[in-house]
Amino acid sequence: MSFLEEIQRRRTFGIISHPDAGKTTLTEKLLLFGGAIQEAGAVKNNKIKKGATSDFMEIERQRGISVATSVLAFIYKDRKINILDTPGHKDFAEDTFRTLTAVDSVIVVIDVAKGVEEQTEKLVEVCRMRNIPMIVFINKLDREGKDAFDLLDEVEQKLGLTVTPMSFPIGMGYDFKGIYDIYKKKINLFSGENKQTISEGIEFDDVNSPELDEIVGDSAAETLREELELVYEVYPSFDQEKYSNGHLQPVFFGSALNNFGVKELLDCFIDIAPNPQPKKAEERLVDSTEKKMSGFVFKIHANMDPKHRDRLAFVKIVSGVFKRNTPYLHVRNNKKLKFSSPNAFFAEKKEIVEESFPGDIVGLHDTGNFKIGDTLTEGELLNFKGIPSFSPEHFRYVNNADPMKSKQLYKGLDQLMDEGVAQLFTLDMNGRKIIGTVGALQYEVIQYRLEHEYGAKCNYENIHVHKACWVEAEDEKNEEFKEFKRVKQRYLAKDKQGQLVFLADSAFTIQMTQQKYPTVKLHFTSEFHN
Ligand code: G4P
Repeated sequence: MSFLEEIQRRRTFGIISHPDAGKTTLTEKLLLFGGAIQEAGAVKNNKIKKGATSDFMEIERQRGISVATSVLAFIYKDRKINILDTPGHKDFAEDTFRTLTAVDSVIVVIDVAKGVEEQTEKLVEVCRMRNIPMIVFINKLDREGKDAFDLLDEVEQKLGLTVTPMSFPIGMGYDFKGIYDIYKKKINLFSGENKQTISEGIEFDDVNSPELDEIVGDSAAETLREELELVYEVYPSFDQEKYSNGHLQPVFFGSALNNFGVKELLDCFIDIAPNPQPKKAEERLVDSTEKKMSGFVFKIHANMDPKHRDRLAFVKIVSGVFKRNTPYLHVRNNKKLKFSSPNAFFAEKKEIVEESFPGDIVGLHDTGNFKIGDTLTEGELLNFKGIPSFSPEHFRYVNNADPMKSKQLYKGLDQLMDEGVAQLFTLDMNGRKIIGTVGALQYEVIQYRLEHEYGAKCNYENIHVHKACWVEAEDEKNEEFKEFKRVKQRYLAKDKQGQLVFLADSAFTIQMTQQKYPTVKLHFTSEFHN
């Protein structure tokens, strides 16, 4: 197969949802179609269980499992499909945000009864900001839920999307009979009482045919006709370009658990979803078809075994062919590195590979060279953009609890931050360190890992911070900025990249500060300058 064909057959995407909407179940059904797993239940243990609020041993165990399931690759109809796992647990939202920098498209799963939930809103917003193509899958149609049109409205309003239904349910919950596939103009019906089996799709170009009444009954047929009429009237029809630019989102209905509507989704997905896209580097736009290899680290996973302090860095290949035992330039360190055992992922296994193509993810063993966001090239000085930090939700001072081990503590903190476990801020005034996290769970994880992997001890002290705001001054030399820095001195810190951050104690303070210093902009993400 030629290099170009290899690129064209790849689809690298992520599935995002609020926990419990059905992401794991859908992933599993997709893998079953690809023949990558033989039975349901294989992906299940990837999930961090709902009950695991502060059980960090459980988290450690999950961490190990999730190495294997970080990328699930399979072949379907000759396409190479790479699903990048995104943790649903909200304490790991940062991980998910970073993974979204490595996908070419996403599928958003929504529970028909619960509608648009909080976590979905946040994740979709990130995708919208980046114009990532999205497909929406409304799940659990076998249960009573919201009216399909109400849900479509909710998706448009709460998520700010423009939808185009590609399939439409016939009934719902107890009366759920099947689905009309608008994209392929086919009707797929459940057969049997238990809704576990599905009839072969019946081609149905003309929904006005009396045959429809015979199959689904007069009243359901009539309802479907009316609803489809409304769909055609109200919603724009599918447009490839608009979808690819992130301006139009196809919607599918189904039930992942019953494997209903999933094949329609997958078949359409491989047709319309983008193959590996060009990626912006600070220096230029890099196209996937370029011959020279380039890629970036979007995730780092510590090894489970504390005796071997090696880590696995996940690299998304942007262009060219990544080859085993070939020296590549690690741009930030200006150092050539060779990898004798790059891992590729296949279903839930990983194996050493000779070559990887754009869109693929390789796992590289690392002894501490890599940081999230690092770029690898064949020599060109490129820096891929856009691994953002968002304001943490929790903040605590971190103190050294064993003065003999301060070197170990700082090394440990440094490496854990490179992995993206949390964010470290250093106060301008006195150099004290503050750890910011998305969930309270991370503090235990950090303490545990510092002790077990680095032999260091820490304790925490409360500090009242509402949000970290990255500071952008219109003019660093103007009086206003100087005054801002003087007045807010106690609340100013640097993040790990040395960017100035204002640690605001309330939403009110942020508002007042913006009013008082209009030329000093406050951002909730570090990415504003891109
Ligand atoms: P998540 O990864 O998004 O968190 O969700 P997951 O797939 O684990 O699904 C959450 C729950 O919803 C599971 O039930 C799952 O079986 C159920 N589910 C998923 N898809 C459907 C569907 O189409 N219809 C119905 N009725 N249920 C669905 P659970 O009881 O939490 O777990 P389990 O005991 O089934 O493992």
